[in-house]
Amino acid sequence: MGAPDKPVRRSQEWFGRVGKQGFYYRSWLKSLGLTHDMFDGRPVIGICNTWSELTPCNSSLRELAEHVKRGIHEAGGLPLEFPVMSLGETQMRPTAMLFRNLVSMDVEESIRANPIDGVVLLVGCDKTTPSLLMGAASVDLPTIAISGGPSLSGNWRGQPVGSGTGVIEMSEMVRAGTLEQEEFVEAEACMQRSKGSCMTMGTASTMACMVEALGMSLPENAAIPAVDSRRFRLAHLSGRRIVQMVEEDLRMSRILTRAAFENAIRANAAIGGSTNAVVHLLALAGRIGVPLSLQDFDELASKLPCLVNLKPSGQYLMEDFFYAGGLPAVLREISPHLHLDTPTANGRTLGENIAQAPCWNRDVIRSADQPLRTEAGIAVLRGNLAPDGAVIKPSAASPGLLKHRGRAVVFESIEDFKARIDDEALDIDETCVMVLQNCGPRGYPGMAEVGNMPLPPKLLRRGITDLVRISDARMSGTAYGTVVLHVSPEAAAGGTLALVRNGDFIELDVPSRRLHLDVSDDELARRRAEWREPPRPTRGWAKIYVDHVQQAHLGADLDVLVGGSGDGVGRDSH
Ligand code: FES
Repeated sequence: MGAPDKPVRRSQEWFGRVGKQGFYYRSWLKSLGLTHDMFDGRPVIGICNTWSELTPCNSSLRELAEHVKRGIHEAGGLPLEFPVMSLGETQMRPTAMLFRNLVSMDVEESIRANPIDGVVLLVGCDKTTPSLLMGAASVDLPTIAISGGPSLSGNWRGQPVGSGTGVIEMSEMVRAGTLEQEEFVEAEACMQRSKGSCMTMGTASTMACMVEALGMSLPENAAIPAVDSRRFRLAHLSGRRIVQMVEEDLRMSRILTRAAFENAIRANAAIGGSTNAVVHLLALAGRIGVPLSLQDFDELASKLPCLVNLKPSGQYLMEDFFYAGGLPAVLREISPHLHLDTPTANGRTLGENIAQAPCWNRDVIRSADQPLRTEAGIAVLRGNLAPDGAVIKPSAASPGLLKHRGRAVVFESIEDFKARIDDEALDIDETCVMVLQNCGPRGYPGMAEVGNMPLPPKLLRRGITDLVRISDARMSGTAYGTVVLHVSPEAAAGGTLALVRNGDFIELDVPSRRLHLDVSDDELARRRAEWREPPRPTRGWAKIYVDHVQQAHLGADLDVLVGGSGDGVGRDSH
């Protein structure tokens, strides 16, 4: 008796065919120089690449793909690289987030339509990570992610400058009159000085940490600098490993369990990660069929400490984080709060991966008993101003403003804000609460990162550095301040946020998780009767998006994309 038959690989539904169909499927690929024996049933690995010069953060991924291919060949697989739409956070207007779900469709359909048995996701800039994970999850093949890695630390005039965070700090100095415009321009090239993603603990670094904490990458994926040779080594090893994952049929759904999401949410607190992780993890959970709610973020992690001393919450940058031990050292420190038996991409459990993880610098990665901040996880607020929830990152807020009652100064759109914020006659002082409407998923559309509204120059000149700010928008992970985000329902969906007027009083009470508009129910009902939905886009992707996008507390995925369609093979095309 011989060995039991191996299940026929998915790719053999193409390459294992005889006659005309097999000829079609193999012949055109042979134009790449492939030999006939490469179609012998070996695992075919799709390398999904978001390389683009319009996404400079991902500009190292073309080179990285070559290292992945070496590993795949070495392990006996056949790599086939393919591009998907790439989302460059700094270049795309009106916001890269408008296209996250579109890219997820590109990824999902590209994988399902092609002869692919396993997938490598090459990600980096903010939205490239969740969009590729979401799309791949809806197919659920064996999949491994590799982040492009952070750029080298920014340095300007001998001082560290963090991506995004430095821009925000310096632009406020320009507006306050303490930094010249020429100096500001000079700093541009000093901040982004190598290939790689933002080197603060912004959204890109946060999502790279989420990938690792979920178990979707090899250990150390999050922090190795983009240009460090160890990043290429990780790519090589990931290429080897995905071939084994296909042999083991280690699909995404076996890794992305509820326990894995709980680990990621707790890790996000410990790293002082971006609020953007909330919408991305919720959307990913929806794709893979894991029940996860906004409230879970508060209940699972709001009491956890922030251990990572990185900008914007702290002092250092991602390069320092890598040298200090990276995410494994953080996870080891919070291991009593983690599910250590969750499987990960390398075939070992999370607990096995982090058991011996060293920490080389206790100022960068604090111990659990000497944290950077206590109770640093994302807090979920509710009240008549956000019946379905809103979020705030207390670790990036001013402690003195976490409990505050103030007069609302309302901006009806981001254009209205930009037109009036520099007006010396604007009726605003440091006790006020800035409110921004119509910047949510439907309203903007695309839920832009405009929630951390810059302060009025007249307050900046007086040394005021923070005000309570509330919106249905998101905030860059590199930003900071007492900023309430993701108010749900959003203004454009008829949420109470749309009904706030100048002069109303708002109560923020983070310890009690309360966000209240101090206006009577009768008056709110009167205002609601007068409210009219803003005009919707009339064609193209923007129309599809606005007609189908869910609210922020559900992850802002399209309603028609929740769940997955699996890896079924379509009918022959010829
Ligand atoms: Fe691309 Fe920050 S703008 S990672």
